[in-house]
Amino acid sequence: MPVQFSSKLQSLLIPSTRVVVFTGAGISAESGVPTFRGQNGLWKEFRVEDLATPQAFATDPQRVWEWYNWRRELISRIDPNGGHLAVAEFEKFFSDFWLVTQNVDGLHDRSGNHRILKLHGDIWEVRCVSCGNGSVDSRPVLPSLPPHCECGDLLRPGVVWFGEVLPASVFEKAVQVTQSCGLFFSVGTSAEVFPAAQLPGIARQHGAYVVEVNIERSAAAYEANEVLLGKAGEVLPAIAASLSVRSA
Ligand code: OAD
Repeated sequence: MPVQFSSKLQSLLIPSTRVVVFTGAGISAESGVPTFRGQNGLWKEFRVEDLATPQAFATDPQRVWEWYNWRRELISRIDPNGGHLAVAEFEKFFSDFWLVTQNVDGLHDRSGNHRILKLHGDIWEVRCVSCGNGSVDSRPVLPSLPPHCECGDLLRPGVVWFGEVLPASVFEKAVQVTQSCGLFFSVGTSAEVFPAAQLPGIARQHGAYVVEVNIERSAAAYEANEVLLGKAGEVLPAIAASLSVRSA
């Protein structure tokens, strides 16, 4: 069925509209990255407490790293999908554009976005637990676990775990661009993890037109002016196609 959206949304698809796209795991699902919640979600198979908290890492860094190695290897084998590519088109089209993502998989970077605010870090980065030194390590699988920093202490994945605060400057910037945008897309997120999940509501309170794209209504759907039910890899390319028509 062709993707249909409102004339209001269509009227906002002009280069001068300030746009924020906020993404979650659902945008990467069609590439083959498992989401966290839902029927086949990672948190059905694994326990957050064992793998995604500072306590889990302190208790068993080897086990935590084995899980991250599994995810790194999986992500390294797959490609961005039409949803990611459409978001990259948005960045080229709109003169004031920001992508705010909860995803750590790096697929938005690979599909060509640059103005990205990564709320939950990046799976391709590592950081020392003692000296804080961080770097990019894009090897699909780290060979000897757990990896160590030159200072001798452990390296951890450069992601935000449960119980940790988001990088303050990144979250502040995300709130700022959300407050000042005219069009806010919330794509493929259950909107269950805070503080990220506040963003659709903040956008709405500050007068943005809020559009949710999801295969089902999220916990933040009530904040949306318009809910487009469907796969991100189908809905977003349809919107991107409409951009190119209007800019021709
Ligand atoms: P979730 O797994 O909670 O939600 C994924 C959302 O994507 C659900 O609302 C699905 O309905 C939707 N979805 C699935 N396939 C889709 C598709 N093809 N197109 C559009 N939507 C689709 O993932 P997040 O909301 O990203 O945090 O989870 C938020 C945070 O919880 C993650 O960043 C991670 C996790 O625990 C940390 O690790 C700190």
